[in-house]
Amino acid sequence: MNITQIATTRYTTKAYDPHKRIGAAQMEQIQTLLRYAPSSINSQPWHFIIAGSEAGKARIAQATTGPYSANEAKVRNCSHVVVLCARTELTDAHLAHVLDQEEKDGRFKSAEAKAGTLKGRLFYANLHREDLQDTQHWMEKQVYLALGTLLLGAGALEIDATPIEGFDRNILDRELGLRAQGLTSVVLVALGYRSADDPNAALPKSRLPADEVFTFL
Ligand SMILES: Cc1cc2nc3c(=O)[nH]c(=O)nc-3n(C[C@H](O)[C@H](O)[C@H](O)COP(=O)(O)O)c2cc1C
Repeated sequence: MNITQIATTRYTTKAYDPHKRIGAAQMEQIQTLLRYAPSSINSQPWHFIIAGSEAGKARIAQATTGPYSANEAKVRNCSHVVVLCARTELTDAHLAHVLDQEEKDGRFKSAEAKAGTLKGRLFYANLHREDLQDTQHWMEKQVYLALGTLLLGAGALEIDATPIEGFDRNILDRELGLRAQGLTSVVLVALGYRSADDPNAALPKSRLPADEVFTFL
């Protein structure tokens, strides 16, 4: 499949076949997609929790009750659920950790290059901390880049997926002890294979017309 075929045929799966599992090699590819997603200043302000066991998925399903109950069966019947989490603080220690990793990965030819990267990075971090005061929102935007990467990548791997904002974040954060780890859940993705009775599979995709969403200069 070429890239536009993937974009136009991937879709939000509404019902999963509970007997079909994603293989370990493909789950490793999913992990690579998440790890290599881009983020502003390479901040990687995220953590991903992957539930592939019945017990793990049941813990996540606790957050899909009440107004979110339409999502419960997706979480329980899919093969794996990814909880995409954001950090609750963008600390200097985290930024230093990223910088050290970049050094280990061979990105700096000199101490000046490393210092220059830190300076640029702190400019943006401080802009969001002090001027815009939207650090949490900014970090969650980065998590959505990982979401987009994951959805398109799952399509390329012929894995069905459901992005899910419809869950109770407080319940899930409590269940997984996320706040104590400096994390909060942002969005879930159910992964697996559609069931024969998925009502969404046969529906045509719908998007606004190109002339409404593009302007060419
Ligand atoms: C951030 C985000 C959150 C979503 N939350 C849900 C959800 O809770 N439950 C659900 O069934 N679909 C959810 N969707 C699916 C959207 O309704 C769907 O992506 C949109 O209608 C476009 O359809 P398509 O994904 O099939 O192309 C979500 C999509 C996104 C991107």
